[in-house]
Amino acid sequence: MRPSSWALAGAAAARDASGDRAARRDRRGDVEVTAAGPAAPLAGRAGIVTGAASGIGAASARALAAAGAAVVLADTDARAGADAAASLARAGARASFVECDVSRDEQVRALVAVALERHGRLDFAVNNAGIEGPFAPAADVTEEDWDRTVSVDLKGVWLCMRHELPPMVAAGSGAIVNTSSVGGLVGLPGSTPYTAAKHGVIGLTKVAALEYSAAGVRVNAICPGVILTPMVERLIVAEPAIEAEMHAAEPIGRLGRPEEVAAAVVWLCSDAASFVTGVALPVDGGYVAR
Ligand SMILES: NC(=O)c1ccc[n+]([C@@H]2O[C@H](COP(=O)([O-])OP(=O)(O)OC[C@H]3O[C@@H](n4cnc5c(N)ncnc54)[C@H](O)[C@@H]3O)[C@@H](O)[C@H]2O)c1
Repeated sequence: MRPSSWALAGAAAARDASGDRAARRDRRGDVEVTAAGPAAPLAGRAGIVTGAASGIGAASARALAAAGAAVVLADTDARAGADAAASLARAGARASFVECDVSRDEQVRALVAVALERHGRLDFAVNNAGIEGPFAPAADVTEEDWDRTVSVDLKGVWLCMRHELPPMVAAGSGAIVNTSSVGGLVGLPGSTPYTAAKHGVIGLTKVAALEYSAAGVRVNAICPGVILTPMVERLIVAEPAIEAEMHAAEPIGRLGRPEEVAAAVVWLCSDAASFVTGVALPVDGGYVAR
């Protein structure tokens, strides 16, 4: 089994054991997904995952679908995003794709409107889209690189919350998970705009948690350590020496898998985390425990 399918396969095994609908394996794609039964933790729920065409977002969409949710995948990469949604849908999940640049207000507004139109509700949102930005010391970062990185990684999260919160408040419930980073908790030398944006995501998360908890909406952040995704592969290609540093930075002795972050996302979106809000949760192999 490919590592990327463990979360779905695990959920499928649990459902088979409890007599729920049998797993229906997607023979064409690389994922296993099932039409989740009524006992699944997110059965009947619907939500959005941004940056869902790749890496942590794609794994989160798969894990949320395996937990029974309808998922609207959003990304700027229309081909990969549509493929990811089609693969889930073929395997029995309620999944669809919307092309969306999270740094553009009108596109985020349309994304939320489409999700509500398709499913009639917005129970969760995983604001995960992000870019790594430039790898350079602070004084060498260009204004253009700063603006682009902060626009996607920080403003994009705010724009998503701006449009996701009103329907959740109207419904009296909702769970938002914003993807920060260990770079939101400690400084990452060479990543000035990224680190600043990811610290900002935690600030946004805490403020929104305080403002909206009385309305029934929980807002949390996850802070992944070094997770082997295309983003990290790009960094290694650009700066090969960084790979050894990445391994050395992870006390657990290896890089993380996207599915290990997705498991935390599903938990934060579910009622199992009903008393958790305003948290910046490291999923980092001990990276920030030093
Ligand atoms: N991989 C890691 O080690 C790591 C660690 C900490 C935090 N993160 C964060 O996790 C998130 C996902 O990262 P990943 O490693 O899966 O990266 P990835 O590059 O594999 O996936 C990111 C996805 O976001 C999409 N995207 C980029 N800009 C967008 C925009 N403006 N609007 C909509 N979609 C956009 C990309 O097309 C891509 O599909 C990011 O926010 C990243 O900062 C990653």
